[in-house]
Amino acid sequence: MSSDSPDLPATEGGRSPLPYGRQSVSEEDIAAVVDVLRGDWLTTGPAVTRFEAALGACAQAPAVVVSSGTAALHTAYAAAGIGPGDEVVTSPMTFVATAAAATMLGATVVFADIEPDTGNLDVEAAAAAVTVSTAVIAAVDYAGHPVEADALAALAGDSGALFIEDAAHSIGGSWHGRQVGSLADLTTFSFYPTKNLTTAEGGAVTGSDPELLGRARRFRNHGLVRERDHLRHPDEGGWHQEVHELGLNYRLPDVLCALGISQLARLGEFKRRRTHIVAAYNAAFTDLDSVSTPPCRQGADPAWHLYPLRVHDGRRRALYDALRGQGILAQVNYVPVHWHPVYEDLGYRRGMCPRAEEFYAQQLSLPLFPAMDDNDVERVVSTVRAFFRRP
Ligand SMILES: Cc1ncc(COP(=O)(O)O)c(C=O)c1O
Repeated sequence: MSSDSPDLPATEGGRSPLPYGRQSVSEEDIAAVVDVLRGDWLTTGPAVTRFEAALGACAQAPAVVVSSGTAALHTAYAAAGIGPGDEVVTSPMTFVATAAAATMLGATVVFADIEPDTGNLDVEAAAAAVTVSTAVIAAVDYAGHPVEADALAALAGDSGALFIEDAAHSIGGSWHGRQVGSLADLTTFSFYPTKNLTTAEGGAVTGSDPELLGRARRFRNHGLVRERDHLRHPDEGGWHQEVHELGLNYRLPDVLCALGISQLARLGEFKRRRTHIVAAYNAAFTDLDSVSTPPCRQGADPAWHLYPLRVHDGRRRALYDALRGQGILAQVNYVPVHWHPVYEDLGYRRGMCPRAEEFYAQQLSLPLFPAMDDNDVERVVSTVRAFFRRP
C-alpha cells in the first residue's frame, strides 16, 4: 500500500472526516467501466490504446500505461538501462518509490538536496552530486509544482545521463507553456486515488524517444517481441514470440483504462477546483506569521496534488494532532527517503540533506481534493487559524 492511502476513521461529532486527498468518481466514470466489463476485453484491449492516445495528447508525448506509479518508475529506470555501478541522483523529498525502484535494479541512489521553497530537487545540489557514474537524474514535481526542467535536462545532457521526471503529482501541469510529460527524457505518472486523476492503481511513462519508449513498452509485458522483422528465429511458426530483454507484467487492464479515459476528460475540471482551493488557503493564511504557503515559480503552472503548508514555529506536530482531533486528516509528505531504515542500513545518514530535513520538520499537507466544497475549505481554514490564536 502506498503512503498515500486515505485512512478514514469513524465520523466524529456529526461531521465527516476530511482526508488529505480523495478520488472523485462520477456516474459517467462508473458507466465507462461497466461498459468494458460487458465487452470482450478485460485486460489488454482497445481501452489501453485509447487511454494511451488520450494521455499522449495531454502530456504532449507518446505514452505507455502501466499498473502503478511505482511500476512506471521501475519501467523508466529499466528502459534507461540502469544497473549495478550506475548512480541515480534524486531528491529525498518524495515517496520512497522514486528511489526504491532504482535501488532494486542494483543502482546506487545519490540524494541531493532540495530547493527550500518548492521542495523540488535543487539544480546546483544535483550538479554537485553528479559523477562519471551518474546514469540518471530523477526529479520529482513535489506537490504538483514542476521542477526546473530545462536546467535539469541540460545538466543531464552535459553529464551523459538521462533526465527522468517523477510526475506522480503533476499530470496536467506545465512549465513555460510545455506540458508535464514532454519535458524530460522519460516522465512517470501515478493514478493512485489521491492523485490528480485515478484508475484505482495505475501509472504511465511518457517520452519522445521511440527507442526508450519501445523498451518501456516491452518491459511492461515480459520483454516479449512479436514483430516478425525483429524476431531472431522468424520461421519458428505463427505463434512464435521471443524475449530479448527481461521484463515483468506491469500491464494496466482495459477495465481500469476505461476509468482513466473518463477521468482524464475531467482533469481540467479537477485542476481548476484544486487551484481554487489552493488560492483560498493561500489567502486565508497569508497573515499568519507561523506558517508559509506553497510558492509558485515564474513559468510554472502547477497541477496541485498536495497543499504543503509549512509551520515555522515548531508546532507542526501539535497542529497535526489538533487537526486530527477535529477529523481533519492532514498528512506529512514526506519523511526524507534517506531516513528510512532500509537506506540507513545502506549507510545513508541523517544530516545529509539539511534543507529536505528542515522541510520535513515543517511540512503538513492540508486536505485538497476536487469534491471539497467551500464549507470544507472554511472548516480547515478556521481550525488552522484557531490553532495559531492559541499561545
Ligand atoms: C512522488 C511519487 N512517486 C511515486 C509514487 C508511487 O505511485 P503508486 O502509488 O501509484 O505506485 C507516488 C505515490 O505514492 C509518489 O507520490
